Amino acid sequence: MPALKIAPSILTADFGRLAEQIKEADEAGVDLIHLDVMDGTFVPNISFGPSIVAAVRKATTLELDVHLMVEEPERFITAFAEAGADFITVHVEATRHPHRAVQLIKEHGKKAGLVLNPGTPLSAVKPLLAELDMVLLMSVNPGFGGQAYISGTTTRLKELRELRDAVNPGCLVEIDGGVKAGNIAMIAEAGADVVVVGSAIYNQNPVKENLTALHKEIYASGHR
Ligand code: DX5
Ligand code: ZN
Repeated sequence: MPALKIAPSILTADFGRLAEQIKEADEAGVDLIHLDVMDGTFVPNISFGPSIVAAVRKATTLELDVHLMVEEPERFITAFAEAGADFITVHVEATRHPHRAVQLIKEHGKKAGLVLNPGTPLSAVKPLLAELDMVLLMSVNPGFGGQAYISGTTTRLKELRELRDAVNPGCLVEIDGGVKAGNIAMIAEAGADVVVVGSAIYNQNPVKENLTALHKEIYASGHR
């Protein structure tokens, strides 16, 4: 069984010492860095743009997983590709041309993913699933860290996993939102390849302590 990958979301990190926080996570054992880009329109929050991605690029050799919570994301794919993204994921709900967005990501030599909000049917990724490197299944409504995992996601994850195994076994399934030590093993068991973890890694406790608690749960369940 391939090991569950952990992608810390920097959204709740201390931006006053971002490079240090990324190094702490890297040294404690994470697999890629998740960067939540928010435009204040597609989601009711604004976070950061390509310049932060470029800064993070210089701070780590880990792959950068850039999650565009942006209306009409095709407008910004080139900028994030040039800033150093390795994965670029766009919401199916945010573009009238998801195929063109995926093509553009790939034209830049980057790995392409589609994102599904909790209320979006899994069928929305079917037309493109064979071409994707990742499907990101939201387990919270996008816009903020620190929200509770939506329990109905687990059934959706199992269904998505079956679809992926049948159509494109090389495509990663990533769960994003509300992942904690208390549910990470259940999410791994349900078939996630990657989990995004924000506030359960970046909070008042040391990053290393938080990651040790997460690793303990996934080792115990045999998923790492
Ligand atoms: C929410 C973002 C998530 C979030 C994860 O819109 O896409 O990546 O930052 O943070 P937690 O783990 O605190 O839910
Ligand atoms: Zn995210």
